[in-house]
Amino acid sequence: MELIATCAFGLEKLVQDELKKLGLPILKTEDGRITFEGDEKAMIQANLWLRCADRIQIKMGEFQATTFDELFDMVGVLPWEKYIGKSDAFPVDATSVKSILHSEPAIQSIVKKSVVKRLQLKHKSEILSENSGATYQIMVKSNKDQFVITIDSSGDSLHKRGYRTKTNEAPMKETLAAAMVKLSDWTPDRTLVDPFCGSGTILIEAALMAQNIAPGLNRTFAFEKWPWIDQNMFKNIHEEAQAEKKSEVKLRIYGFDIDAGILRTAGGNAGNAGFRNINFQCTDFHDIDFAKFENTTFICNPPYGERLEDKPSVEKMYREFGKEFAQSRNCSLFIITPSENFPQLFGRPADKNRKLFNGGIKCYLYSFLSK
Ligand SMILES: C[S@@+](CC[C@H](N)C(=O)[O-])C[C@H]1O[C@@H](n2cnc3c(N)ncnc32)[C@H](O)[C@@H]1O
Repeated sequence: MELIATCAFGLEKLVQDELKKLGLPILKTEDGRITFEGDEKAMIQANLWLRCADRIQIKMGEFQATTFDELFDMVGVLPWEKYIGKSDAFPVDATSVKSILHSEPAIQSIVKKSVVKRLQLKHKSEILSENSGATYQIMVKSNKDQFVITIDSSGDSLHKRGYRTKTNEAPMKETLAAAMVKLSDWTPDRTLVDPFCGSGTILIEAALMAQNIAPGLNRTFAFEKWPWIDQNMFKNIHEEAQAEKKSEVKLRIYGFDIDAGILRTAGGNAGNAGFRNINFQCTDFHDIDFAKFENTTFICNPPYGERLEDKPSVEKMYREFGKEFAQSRNCSLFIITPSENFPQLFGRPADKNRKLFNGGIKCYLYSFLSK
């Protein structure tokens, strides 16, 4: 079957690399969507192992439609009965961008009617009770009249690993935090520091990577309730992932934040993920002794000052951070911020900058490599 891994804009290449590492052949890469070839096993592995993807979906069809009649007919020829049983639930979610059929509720309703008609016919039953406990979330995406129709296999979005019970006001999605670590120069033999660590997401994602822990190991997926999934296969893939943990890899990971409350949350989150050895310390970054850091990677998501009145204080903070960081020796910094003039404020040109979105905010990941 054809499977789709969805992701945030800007993370496509990372997801592609993760799929390649699993040995899964890529068919097509588009904005926020990587189509790959795979069977039931591939679907389970992708859900369990991808760190930067949001969802794994079964691709049901792709076509052009500009009228509701066309949409109804095109959806009606797709083999829904292959997956959805007589009493399974199949809610429909639709998004439409720059398309003639722009009403999302109307698209949802037409798709639902068409799937109902097909299932009634194929299952030879007027009654589709939708009460078996298995859910097949149908996702409809239309962009410039081109429809892509999928069934979601993940359930909760994959950024929900299960370790983060509490967050601060500006938490970063685990998928973006993992992407930042992948885009950095950090390897587990180096010290890693987040001087604005908040609830600890970047550091926990780094620890999971260092010890080769599958990000989906401690959560459930929608596909687990699907009767056609071979439960033994799922159990085996899960056990194999458990066996691949490298718990012996030592972690040299430090998080600082000015807020003692958020650090308690960070400690709790790290504990939930199985890490008691990430060091969290309540410290204003001005009081960090940067001179004692050598050959260390810093990765962080500092305050953004999104409101206009906060801008001057954040700019001052970035300037002061630049001065403090300049005392470190041979260290690298990977920092995400919407600020277009961060390098000027920081006092050094960036070696690289990459556009990434953090919760819909256009940001830049600036890289300052070791000198
Ligand atoms: C955008 S949040 C970081 C969110 C984090 N990546 C997460 O996933 O939870 C920025 C953090 O910077 C901290 N902060 C603000 N001023 C600081 C300062 N002067 N020194 C250290 N931390 C500070 C805030 O308490 C906040 O937790």
